[in-house]
Amino acid sequence: MGGVLYQVYIRSFADSNGDGIGDLPGIAAHLDYLTELGVDTLWLSPVHPSPNVDWGYDVADYRAVHPDYGMLDDLDTLIAAAGARSIDVWLDLVPNHTSDRHPWFGDRPEYYVWSEGIPNDWTSIFTGKTAWQYDQTRRQYYLHQFAPEQPDLDWWNASVRNEFDDILRFWFNRGVQGFRIDVAHGLIKDRRLRDGVRYMRERPEVHEIYRRWQEIAGEYIPKPTLMGETYVTLDKLFAYYAHLDLAQNFPFLRAEFDVDELRPIVETTMSRLSKGREPVWFGSNHDHSRMATRWAGGDERKHKAALFLLLTLPGYAILYQGDELGLEDGHVPADRILDLADPPRDPERTPFPWTRSGEEWRNPWLPAADTSRNAADSTILPYTRELIAQRKELGGGYRTLDSAPGIWAYARGDKTCVLNMTGTTARHDGHVLEPWQGVVL
Ligand code: GLC
Ligand code: CA
Repeated sequence: MGGVLYQVYIRSFADSNGDGIGDLPGIAAHLDYLTELGVDTLWLSPVHPSPNVDWGYDVADYRAVHPDYGMLDDLDTLIAAAGARSIDVWLDLVPNHTSDRHPWFGDRPEYYVWSEGIPNDWTSIFTGKTAWQYDQTRRQYYLHQFAPEQPDLDWWNASVRNEFDDILRFWFNRGVQGFRIDVAHGLIKDRRLRDGVRYMRERPEVHEIYRRWQEIAGEYIPKPTLMGETYVTLDKLFAYYAHLDLAQNFPFLRAEFDVDELRPIVETTMSRLSKGREPVWFGSNHDHSRMATRWAGGDERKHKAALFLLLTLPGYAILYQGDELGLEDGHVPADRILDLADPPRDPERTPFPWTRSGEEWRNPWLPAADTSRNAADSTILPYTRELIAQRKELGGGYRTLDSAPGIWAYARGDKTCVLNMTGTTARHDGHVLEPWQGVVL
């Protein structure tokens, strides 16, 4: 088991009709690229209609496609074409909240979390202020962990659960193979709305929801289907594997690119996962500075070392579009910032450079990324392809091997991976390792 997931941020991947916005036909037109890269699964950022207060993470209709991205037909076509190349398509499911423009918010207010007054000290991740917003019509406050335009659903309500059962079935029936679950640690809140962030997130009752989804998934797909955006500390991560197939490892992403920080995270993860469970590693996503910038500081060798690590560790690796090229954060001038978060996440969302001239993007919605590392002539891309091809030769499991400081050596079955995590030449077991070089022996 295990595989390579490729995160497509649709708006910035490939624009098929020249309106400056990436779209589904754009992805379909680049399946050759993804096949050659060797990825197993595409995780698409939210495809649904959305007023884009939070760029798709405020969903107005869970069963439709945003007109900017195409039509439902285009998604069917993409799923079929990807499937023909043995590439699965996963959607990004946003069950913690909807858009305030979702019809439910008006028609089914009981689907949301309400209170007569401000009942507790919970704060919104985006505003930093109270997570309770007064609603004129209802004369009550509703909960929003994120923006006020993203009211939280009430997962104690059985009808909410039924709605999402149907949504899952709707997409499984259309050939979707899995889901990345947004804010997977946050769906259900303390019933009594007690003070303290620990009552707003990471409630144990969330696992029952995933148990139920897993039952549904099992009717359709005989392989891993549910990956949580589990934004929790490492000691809390493993509980999510009760019913999720994959729980995203944020402590790994957030660590410095330093063997002494990363290795203990990998060791703990591998020792605490129960038998048959797989880890999932990544260094970038649409919410964080890209690994080429944050970890590698633009240094090509260091970025290759990061790719080596991601792609030789056991289990699953996620590449965020552009990681395979060494793409760095884009430069977005203050007057072009569109994101609501502070700091804004636009730099890691800039349009994907297919060519050095960048001609494929006309008036893009965000300034296009720097094209000096692009899909046509990146020197990092062939290396990434090789690493992905080589994964299949690695054996199972993970075992740390003795090594000098700054060197990370581990056994993968009968293969040994050695990574020089320093900027100087080093030796391991008679082998000379250039700065930041990784080798499989
Ligand atoms: C997740 C998404 C992020 C979004 C937030 C609220 O963290 O990855 O982009 O803003 O949830 O939906
Ligand atoms: Ca377009």
